[in-house]
Amino acid sequence: MFPKVTLLSLALAAVVYGQQVGTLTAENHPQLQVQQCTSGGSCTTQSRSITLDSNWRWTHEVSSSTNCYTGNEWDTSICPDPTTCATNCALDGADYSGTYGITTSGNALTLKFVTHGPYSTNIGSRVYLLDSSGSKYQLFNLKNQEFTFDVDMSNLPCGLNGALYFIQMDADGGMARFPTNKAGAKYGTGYCDTQCPQDIKFINGQANVLNWVPSDTDVNAGTGEYGTCCSEMDIWEANSQAAAVTPHVCSGITGQTRCSGTQCGDGDERYDGFCDKDGCDFNSWRMGDQTFLGPGKTVNTNSKFTVVTQFLTSDNTTTGTLHEIRRLYVQNGKVIQNSKTTFPGISAYDSITDNFCNDQKALFGDTNSFESKGGLAAMGSAFEAGMALVMSIWDDHAVNMLWLDSDYPTDAPASQPGISRGPCATTSGQPSVVESQSGDAYVTYSNIKFGPIGSTYAH
Ligand SMILES: *[C@@H]1O[C@H](CO)[C@@H](O)[C@H](O)[C@H]1NC(C)=O
Repeated sequence: MFPKVTLLSLALAAVVYGQQVGTLTAENHPQLQVQQCTSGGSCTTQSRSITLDSNWRWTHEVSSSTNCYTGNEWDTSICPDPTTCATNCALDGADYSGTYGITTSGNALTLKFVTHGPYSTNIGSRVYLLDSSGSKYQLFNLKNQEFTFDVDMSNLPCGLNGALYFIQMDADGGMARFPTNKAGAKYGTGYCDTQCPQDIKFINGQANVLNWVPSDTDVNAGTGEYGTCCSEMDIWEANSQAAAVTPHVCSGITGQTRCSGTQCGDGDERYDGFCDKDGCDFNSWRMGDQTFLGPGKTVNTNSKFTVVTQFLTSDNTTTGTLHEIRRLYVQNGKVIQNSKTTFPGISAYDSITDNFCNDQKALFGDTNSFESKGGLAAMGSAFEAGMALVMSIWDDHAVNMLWLDSDYPTDAPASQPGISRGPCATTSGQPSVVESQSGDAYVTYSNIKFGPIGSTYAH
């Protein structure tokens, strides 16, 4: 919900990137099977693949193996300005398992948190589902559809986030709109989300070198002049202790859009930018049911389970207005309905509707930027344009993931509605601690299915 700024600051150990194509390591996309289902309940396997986001990749001079970017700084002799840098630097292929701890098997994808590779220590990763061509993102319109996957979070402690979500990025990674981007979706370019992240090294075919400031807390990240914004549907942001499903929208822009200044919505200008950074989250613990999801609970995170998310429209067609996002779970063959909101004075909501969002924000005293940026109807419009599937694992250099799994903000009483989001200590989730103590953490996503409402799970 809150500072997903860090979604990327999280990670990219020692490696770098560019916008030309490098050939020092062959780019072999790991294969991943997904299934498309029909209303009769039969599903067809699609052989697909994934690609690693460009921010994690080694970027070197086109003609040599000299880094364009090392740690959290650009080489200003190769990268004196955005355009020269995009011309001089190449984005290379990835050793998925050796360098990044990313493996697939059949319909399962595992992302390991810390990987000690031959040249670097990698922290976290972010990958995208490609279509059958292997050079474009597979785009989804989930209106009047459901999206289902299995997740194993048993080895994902406080402070980590295994995320599965959709973003409205260009299918080709922006190659057609920005011809200086020669790498495209094949090399994981074109990222955007509602935090309008400024730690992305190449945006709109240019290097983000202007006013680049290395992070003082993350040896692998910095921020530049520009951010990259677009609507985002967080199906799943979770660890073994807490989980949230959160639509976020942008207004006044269409698809991936570069921001600068106030448009990016930094700091005091959080609600003045293009996008709704808070979103409208449904986190069972935060909505009052502390017994629902966690180790040994109703949805038992000690073992694998199925997460179903349904996108209902007002007229039950794929072109109707999105008006409700429903969640249910399946574990050990049993369908588990979502938990209900328990606060006195508001309805026992168990799904996300505009009414739920308005009542929740009023109850918690939160600014309602979800409504002012267009609400669920705007989320539906983003799906209509097509959204790409993202899967990631990350830690949080801004606020230690407390917005997901602990009490946040930490200076408000935990008894105040909306402050407690999960059972993790307010001292947990520090990147230096989780990276050293929980390096072997991982998340496995598997058995991805999508299709008409009711088609993807046994019930
Ligand atoms: C849409 O489907 C729901 C659930 O099946 C049903 O209750 C509702 O009446 C339908 N709405 C329309 C407009 O057909």
